[in-house]
Amino acid sequence: MGDVIVASLVIVSLLVSLVDAHALSVDYYAKTCPDVDAIVAKVVKKAAMGDSTVPSALLRMHFHDCFIRGCDGSVLLNSTKTNKAEKDGTPNISLHAFYVIDHAKEELEAACPGVVSCADIIALAARDSVALSGGPSWEVPKGRKDGRISIANETKLLPPPTFNFSQLIQSFSQRGLSLQDLVALSGGHTLGFAHCSSFQNRIHKFNSSFDVDPAMEPQFAASLRQTCPIHNKARNAGSIMDPTATVFDNMYYKHLVQGRGLFTSDQALLSNLESKNLVHKFAESQEAFEKAFVKSILKMGSLVGEGEVRLDCRVVR
Ligand SMILES: *[C@@H]1O[C@H](CO)[C@@H](O)[C@H](O)[C@H]1NC(C)=O
Ligand SMILES: *[C@@H]1O[C@H](CO)[C@@H](O)[C@H](O)[C@H]1NC(C)=O
Ligand SMILES: *[C@@H]1O[C@H](CO)[C@@H](O)[C@H](O)[C@H]1NC(C)=O
Ligand SMILES: *[C@@H]1O[C@H](CO)[C@@H](O)[C@H](O)[C@H]1NC(C)=O
Repeated sequence: MGDVIVASLVIVSLLVSLVDAHALSVDYYAKTCPDVDAIVAKVVKKAAMGDSTVPSALLRMHFHDCFIRGCDGSVLLNSTKTNKAEKDGTPNISLHAFYVIDHAKEELEAACPGVVSCADIIALAARDSVALSGGPSWEVPKGRKDGRISIANETKLLPPPTFNFSQLIQSFSQRGLSLQDLVALSGGHTLGFAHCSSFQNRIHKFNSSFDVDPAMEPQFAASLRQTCPIHNKARNAGSIMDPTATVFDNMYYKHLVQGRGLFTSDQALLSNLESKNLVHKFAESQEAFEKAFVKSILKMGSLVGEGEVRLDCRVVR
């Protein structure tokens, strides 16, 4: 009798883990944590009011999380004595605002202990960040699990700002993401700030044949060179990603078509006809951009991993 119960529990848990790994749903916590969306939204809103860089940081965190081992919260894990985690990978990853996820997790643990995954919190917080910045909103499918593995050198698998078009397409397609997803998700650069190191290659002569990238609008290049001199000592110097860096709008594309894109990977979107046409389409229509962005971030957010529901987002259970 006891054995039968144990055996059927094993079967149930196997089925659950199969289902969990593949099917996310908007109502996933309807019975177990009905206020999950509201709880996360409240915490993100409060944090964004205290620090205007929080929304861009949380959107970037979701992207980073999903690109390495799927959206599994691996980006949140602390290093341990025996393991250097993603968080402590190459310095130019420079993610921040982890405390916002911690606060949301604390509130969720008080409301519905042990139920909501950290990976779902990041996905919700990214949605809230875009909506709070004046962008679109969408329903977030939930049910992701938190991974137990986080390896510093895997941050090498993120597409760096120096990538050209074919490298970007390869990186995205390895994750099942299309050219359209690449162009739409690049629009996330409408929020935030970039350090000089991420675009130095376009404004100073290193190994390249040019001093300033000829594709860059000259006045824009001159102002970046002033902010980021060749032997730049100011560690935190850099530029906002578009002139309305706290507003989620299509200004990123408008500037890109004027030669005012910041990264090699931004400029690269103009080097392929199909991609260039999309850039122009999004520059002309905020609505078209928003529609495409929501579709692509949902697709990216469905790259799930396997795992558990952590109790503290920084440590495996
Ligand atoms: C994780 O690392 C942060 C920053 O180093 C530290 O403040 C925090 O206490 C750590 N948390 C855990 C649970 O180890
Ligand atoms: C990370 O380091 C390990 C061990 O040194 C190596 O086998 C692996 O290929 C590296 N991964 C990446 C993405 O560089
Ligand atoms: C992109 O960069 C890779 C690696 O440096 C290079 O092999 C490739 O030819 C480049 N592609 C284009 C279109 O420039
Ligand atoms: C990222 O950081 C590494 C190590 O500090 C540096 O070698 C590399 O040039 C940086 N890359 C970019 C694109 O800033």
